[in-house]
Amino acid sequence: MDIKNVCVIGAGAMGSGIAQLAATHGYNVYLVDITEEILKKAKASIDKNLNRFFVAKGKLSDEEAKKILNRIYLTTNRDEAIKDVQMVIEAVFEDMALKQDLLYDLDKKCQKNVILASNTSSLSITDMALKAKNQERIVGIHFFNPAPVMKLIELIKGKNTSNEILEASKNFAQSLNKTVVTVKDSPGFITTRLIYVLCNEAINMKQEGIASTEDIDTAVKLAFNFPMGPLELSDLVGNDIYLHIGEYLTEKLGENYDPSSLLRKMVKDNYIGRKTKKGFYNY
Ligand SMILES: NC(=O)c1ccc[n+]([C@@H]2O[C@H](COP(=O)([O-])OP(=O)(O)OC[C@H]3O[C@@H](n4cnc5c(N)ncnc54)[C@H](O)[C@@H]3O)[C@@H](O)[C@H]2O)c1
Repeated sequence: MDIKNVCVIGAGAMGSGIAQLAATHGYNVYLVDITEEILKKAKASIDKNLNRFFVAKGKLSDEEAKKILNRIYLTTNRDEAIKDVQMVIEAVFEDMALKQDLLYDLDKKCQKNVILASNTSSLSITDMALKAKNQERIVGIHFFNPAPVMKLIELIKGKNTSNEILEASKNFAQSLNKTVVTVKDSPGFITTRLIYVLCNEAINMKQEGIASTEDIDTAVKLAFNFPMGPLELSDLVGNDIYLHIGEYLTEKLGENYDPSSLLRKMVKDNYIGRKTKKGFYNY
């Protein structure tokens, strides 16, 4: 499968990073979102990131950065954007119904050989594909934030994903200079399930009062050589996101994953983390 043009749907934190990454590796990218304003903001942030983390550090020349930016086309017209692409990667909100409808529509409109990939961080690829007719071309391709920097891609094989699509997606991921791991479709895959358990247990410890916020984070960082403690991380990702993941894992895998009652209370009181400037820490 020869992939040259890619469509990325959703120009938020992940979609803009994926667009930047793919364009850096020579792909033409059609970046789609629902308003021009979001798209302009995404392109400005890609421009800033290219300059700050690549040009300023001597990893790219000014001219190369401009070429990368010029390979990213912005549009609110999804049907136009998918006309001449070999792969679509959706990075819209983490919402099963939204993703199911989107994949159904893409499957109806894209040519038969186009790969349809989801960047979901926890939802079932098999369930997401349920409404689509050609479920064998739907695959999970889980990037990490920030996508241009993080080394890993988790590739998820849905129940009906074909081996050919999985292989082509793996080749694509490797062409982006990433290390790829393959995982069966299972709630939270490898990474989200594990990091949720760590963070939720740290929140339980905080609730039990066995140590301070700072000491829990310091212990984890220094004992395991992690760059960030679990409570800092939960604030960064968003406590609301972890609550959502915990509820999904509990529904699918059982009560071992039940979110801490402190996590529930924090979200209810708007202690979401960096987004609301208050969480386990104040910002
Ligand atoms: N943020 C992370 O750290 C992270 C990491 C890995 C995977 N993910 C996954 O990536 C996906 C996106 O997450 P994000 O953090 O970038 O979210 P985000 O809220 O920053 O961006 C989502 C974007 O999708 C757009 N959107 C929504 N519906 C759309 C539609 N119908 N058509 C076009 N655009 C639409 C929104 O306008 C928004 O700009 C989610 O599935 C999330 O679970 C997130």
